[in-house]
Amino acid sequence: METPRTQLECEVASLFTARFGSKPFCVVSAPGRVNLIGEHTDYNDGFVLPAAINRTIAIAAGPRPDRNLMIHAENIGATILLDLNDLTPRKVGAWSNYPGGVAYFLQQRGISLRGANLVIKGDIPRGAGLSSSAALEVASAYAFLTLINHTLSEIDVIKICQKAENDFVGVKCGIMDQFISCLGKKDHALKIDCRSLTYEHVPFPPGVRLIVCDTAVKRALASSEYNKRREECNAGVVVFARHMPEVRKLRDVTLPQLRLYETELGPVILRRSRHVITENDRVERSVTALCTGDLELFGQLMYASHFSLRDDYQVSCPELDAVVDICSAVEGVLGARMTGAGFGGCAICLVREPQSEKVIDQLLLEYPRRTGKTPGIVSCTFENGVAVTKF
Ligand code: GLA
Repeated sequence: METPRTQLECEVASLFTARFGSKPFCVVSAPGRVNLIGEHTDYNDGFVLPAAINRTIAIAAGPRPDRNLMIHAENIGATILLDLNDLTPRKVGAWSNYPGGVAYFLQQRGISLRGANLVIKGDIPRGAGLSSSAALEVASAYAFLTLINHTLSEIDVIKICQKAENDFVGVKCGIMDQFISCLGKKDHALKIDCRSLTYEHVPFPPGVRLIVCDTAVKRALASSEYNKRREECNAGVVVFARHMPEVRKLRDVTLPQLRLYETELGPVILRRSRHVITENDRVERSVTALCTGDLELFGQLMYASHFSLRDDYQVSCPELDAVVDICSAVEGVLGARMTGAGFGGCAICLVREPQSEKVIDQLLLEYPRRTGKTPGIVSCTFENGVAVTKF
């Protein structure tokens, strides 16, 4: 028997024992993420550069004799019973749709799951754009699979979790969040090619800190505007494909080609397309910058990404802009930008280690003054992806 490694894993194991009267069969934990650069590019078959962070969702799981899933979510104090023979989505936004959807699509793939008791506890702020949903999906998938001693490739798990979110939860997300929650690596970011699904771990240079600032703005518009952006990107593809039939996604379009057809696109689609095309390029340049230790350049690319998301993709908000602005005035800050879908949630700031406290102090002082809101601040480390401990 291995002992759980983190405090959260220990806690969830004890909660399981207290609730179900026996030790769990396994404890699984899956991390949340920040996206360093490459925003709104995943569903355009482009490039992204996320990193898994030191915030996770842990699940303790054990078998039960029937075909039910008894799931207790400690953070919200709620318990639900799902029937593996009859999994259908509950109301929109229900937390049980995440594990329920994963179980549904694992079974759709012909994998026969067994009944289980589960206790879930996490420390990823919910609704803050740090991918607590993907972490919950990934942790659920590994818990269900471990209970029946079944292994799937990571890419298969990632696709099943994305499908659960798309078609069971009902959120049309891309593949980035599930990918990084599975395949994160300590002190590394992960460059993903969202078309070929090939990836590369990129070492993160030492001597800097990544500060995450939760704006405390609920991402109210996130889902409807997210879907609208996806449609606008597809509308761009239709225009480009008229001239270049090989274009399947905005990933296939270059900046000179954009300039060639810009009058046909109209002002909105032009802006959306320009963001995606320039952002893909920024990811490639960021990877080179990190590999050569050029943190100044990487920081500049972060700012450029933020301005493109604010002005061209129009998914920022005054609070995210305020965080970037406050950070940019602090000595030692290399770059800052919003992270995730936008319309609230979190911004990230890359700062030289000795000045990291200054950024935090400045945000705590200045952000409430400018916005009337209290920021949530996390100093992040980059961690491994999903981990399974069997008892
Ligand atoms: C959300 C989605 C991701 C990605 C980002 C924007 O986090 O879940 O798939 O599209 O928004 O980059």
